[in-house]
Amino acid sequence: MSDKLKKKPQHIAIIMDGNGRWAKEHGELRSFGHKSGVKTAKNIVLACKELNIPYLTLYTFSKENWGRPKSEINFLFKLLSNFFKKELNTLSQNDIKINIFGDMVNIPQSVKKALTYTLEKTKIYKSITVNLAFNYSGREEILQAVKSILIDKKKPQDITENVFRNYLYSKEQPDPDIIIRTSGEKRLSNYLIFQSAYSELYFTKTLWPDFTKDELYSIIEDYCLRTRKFGLIEEQI
Ligand code: IPE
Ligand code: IPE
Ligand code: MG
Repeated sequence: MSDKLKKKPQHIAIIMDGNGRWAKEHGELRSFGHKSGVKTAKNIVLACKELNIPYLTLYTFSKENWGRPKSEINFLFKLLSNFFKKELNTLSQNDIKINIFGDMVNIPQSVKKALTYTLEKTKIYKSITVNLAFNYSGREEILQAVKSILIDKKKPQDITENVFRNYLYSKEQPDPDIIIRTSGEKRLSNYLIFQSAYSELYFTKTLWPDFTKDELYSIIEDYCLRTRKFGLIEEQI
């Protein structure tokens, strides 16, 4: 990788989209697409670790995804818990911490158990934090923060942006520098609504199961060539 990558992103967030279409293109069931998507996710986590990216957030299951057929939801849950059972060694060998952005409401007991076990076992790891946006809704995350602030009886004048941030799942983490969405869709789908205020956006037509480490590298190179101005003018940066 070139030395253009000096100011590489500290936090990459990905909307892993297109598993269903990928499966259809291959004449397979949607579940086959999800299975392949998990393999891609593993490769990309390891690639980010190799690149020393400290934070990676993966959109795994949205609150809106509850509207999908029950069989697909069950398949996705099973896939996730099996993945954690199988890959705990990979996580520990690579010093990977798993974290969840989302709540466990309505999540089946077996999945909850696998997730809590993984969180507990990986909390000591430090090379990279992988946040799974699981049972996640950006708007609900904001509403939840507001409710907790009210419960804590905070005074309006004390509610600064930094105080508010502490009520979000992403507390103590930098905002995503870049949000990547695969499959050609150009929307955020309720992902990291507060945190994405100044994120760079990158949309690729590649369907998630076909997404590679090489494409990730070229997206990071593209990111490094962008000028982030945060409201300022070029001369001030
Ligand atoms: C993304 O792929 C995975 C999840 C939402 C869990 P999709 O399942 O949305 O794939 P498409 O959009 O139908 O192709
Ligand atoms: C977003 O993808 C959620 C995940 C990737 C988990 P969707 O496929 O559910 O998004 P929409 O419905 O097309 O916006
Ligand atoms: Mg989709």
